[in-house]
Amino acid sequence: MSKPKVLLTRKWPQAAEERAREQFNVHLNDDDHKMSVDELKTAMQNYDAVCPTVSDFLIDADILGVENRKCKILANFGVGFNNIDTDAAKAAGVVVTNTPGVLTDCTADIAMTLLLMVARRAGEGERLVRTKQWDGWRPTHMLSTKVTGKKLGFIGFGRIAQAVAHKAHHGFDMEISFYDPYPPPAEVIGKYNARQCDSVEEVLRNSDFVTLHCPGGGSNTNLLNAERLGMMQKHAFLINTARGDVVDEPALVKALKDGVIAGAGLDVFAREPKVTEDLLSMENVVLFPHLGSATTETRVAMGMCSLDNVEAFFNGEEPPNRVA
Ligand code: DGY
Repeated sequence: MSKPKVLLTRKWPQAAEERAREQFNVHLNDDDHKMSVDELKTAMQNYDAVCPTVSDFLIDADILGVENRKCKILANFGVGFNNIDTDAAKAAGVVVTNTPGVLTDCTADIAMTLLLMVARRAGEGERLVRTKQWDGWRPTHMLSTKVTGKKLGFIGFGRIAQAVAHKAHHGFDMEISFYDPYPPPAEVIGKYNARQCDSVEEVLRNSDFVTLHCPGGGSNTNLLNAERLGMMQKHAFLINTARGDVVDEPALVKALKDGVIAGAGLDVFAREPKVTEDLLSMENVVLFPHLGSATTETRVAMGMCSLDNVEAFFNGEEPPNRVA
């Protein structure tokens, strides 16, 4: 039997590309350009499997609806799959998989990095040193907010959130509370001595730091709107490593400007890679270019996981990480 034809929409880490080359008749995106909608449509006609990423154009009914579609599986390189219209994929009979588990710790590390940086004014301090404006140690210089022992509230309490809770509770003695419509079992909650809240609002009102860990899109779009941001405490910080659209960005900018909240640490944005001038000009925000899973170890593992799904599918098995 000939090898399945597979397309990787972006450049992958070397080890994962090598495996793809050995196992499949693969097309690599050597110059790592963002594929146009037309290229994605053509890909649907030419490849048995397409492995897309979060930064691709949305794979929707229009792209899936091309004539003579050959593609049978979209093996997403990423745990979040809001870059794929799963309803349209289901309707077209195209299987969708993701890469859960392998990026949990690294994404949690980035959430902690943002939390620590924004609380301790680390970005601002680094800019001061680099611009040669630091004039020496003083008892009142760059006073910031203590992290250890503070209250950390979670919106969503899945794998990545639990890894953050582990680091924050056991490493920084933080008090954990969360809201999740599908809460984990009691023994998981017990590991972090976490308090389960009945609503998003309850978390917002009672936390010194709020960290977002829910999927993007659908009813979570603009979940953190002006009204909900107004429920946070004035001294509280917002951390987002989930998806940009979960936060109403103009409302966040206003809340930061008006002192409704103290600051924000953002790894994701509503219109990536665009970041608004307002956010760029604020000292009380820390801005990362979607770094959550960006370690070599994790990105290789994500590629392998995506390929495991493709392999299982063409072996006639149920792909391990099927989401649609
Ligand atoms: C993920 O895996 O969801 C990362 O945000 C990259 O897509």
